[in-house]
Amino acid sequence: MRGITLNIDKVTGFVGKEQVYAWETKAKASIEALHKRHYATGAGNDFLGWLNLPSSVTEAELADIEHTARLLRTKCEVVVVIGIGGSYLGAKAVLEALNNSFDFLLKERRNPLILYAGHHIGEDYLYELGEVLKGRPFGLINISKSGTTTEPALAFRILKKQLEDAVGREEARQRIVAVTDARKGALRTLADQEGYKTFVIPDDVGGRFSVLTPVGLLPIAVAGISVRDLIAGAADMEKATGPDVPFAENIAAVYAATRNELYRNGKKIEILANFHPKLHYIAEWWKQLYGESEGKEHKGIFPASVDLTTDLHSMGQWIQEGERSVFETVISVEKPDRNVLIPADEANLDGLNFLAGKRIDEVNKMAELGTSLAHVDGGVPNIRITIPEVNAYTIGQLFYFFEKACGISGYLLGVNPFNQPGVEAYKKNMFALLNKPGFEKESEAIKARL
Ligand code: PA5
Repeated sequence: MRGITLNIDKVTGFVGKEQVYAWETKAKASIEALHKRHYATGAGNDFLGWLNLPSSVTEAELADIEHTARLLRTKCEVVVVIGIGGSYLGAKAVLEALNNSFDFLLKERRNPLILYAGHHIGEDYLYELGEVLKGRPFGLINISKSGTTTEPALAFRILKKQLEDAVGREEARQRIVAVTDARKGALRTLADQEGYKTFVIPDDVGGRFSVLTPVGLLPIAVAGISVRDLIAGAADMEKATGPDVPFAENIAAVYAATRNELYRNGKKIEILANFHPKLHYIAEWWKQLYGESEGKEHKGIFPASVDLTTDLHSMGQWIQEGERSVFETVISVEKPDRNVLIPADEANLDGLNFLAGKRIDEVNKMAELGTSLAHVDGGVPNIRITIPEVNAYTIGQLFYFFEKACGISGYLLGVNPFNQPGVEAYKKNMFALLNKPGFEKESEAIKARL
């Protein structure tokens, strides 16, 4: 497998390698607990379906996704993916990483333009989206595991009406796909009533672990990206991080152990850094994965992210000299896809002729090296994840690597990484403030506080 590698050499000035390796027994126990589908406290063991998604997806499932994607691609110039959190970040991460950065400006499109809705409650955004969709053939992929999440439900209500008004209810049915629970939830009921094409999110796969189900695969296929390559990468990583792999060779276990050891030594913030701006949404996906999985019981590393070198001109000062409670995990891309050479310039007013003939990436790589050395000198331990190039296969590897490490890391931290009880608090207040039926008592209580 030519794939991603992990290097923890630059944390050893802060915590010794032996300290990291001291986690071996606990890490092995965590991996076993994941694979045996049982965890000492019993918590979370009903949400482990993601573990063998890559190796268990069937040809029929992939063919169904590709077939539906083809239908949407034929009918639609624009496809709006409706979802929030784990129900949209994975697909968005892949599309941002692999599509042309100026996709929206391309004249000769081979793939529908993918837009997003339901990932917030911004009124201006929804208005502008509605305007831009006018007169364009569009379709909707509505993704919600619970089928009751307010943000996507509101967006779907508005966009479904716009679509039905534009093309009629029958044609709209052909352009709407629902990805949801097999049995429960408002979206399941509506999809069954209307006869939408549906895909199921398995009961035992939580939102933030669902990118390798139709949640991620369908929008990715609509965008013309190979879901088979993505799955192949994830399947190889599934093997490479399996229960029989020795600790030192299991990069998910070593990453999980390293971050827990750093946390134990006061490093409370992990910054995921990239020098490849197209990976911005990989970091957004990663933040949700680790933030929702580990931030509980008043514990957990705070997951943050930066795009470099851009953020060296904003967050760089803080990382270099701010409170020393931070460590950095750099995703390093060995080889960019494209080749841009720096030209010579006769006047050389910018003094950059010493770089003439070099690739832009050579400069970027030296910025990367210079930055990690500076940050290490400044007291920031540095973990490095290297990917040979950015493609569907390596992103599949990366997804599974981070998921597996997250499961192990959550167990090492002593929390249930597969629930998210804290996200209910804002919903309860919001529904009380909006006088949702059933929230009368909460409504009275919250209004008394205002
Ligand atoms: O990881 C999670 O479970 C959450 O982030 C969900 O993905 C998010 O809240 C969306 O939920 P749903 O798919 O039920 O609409």
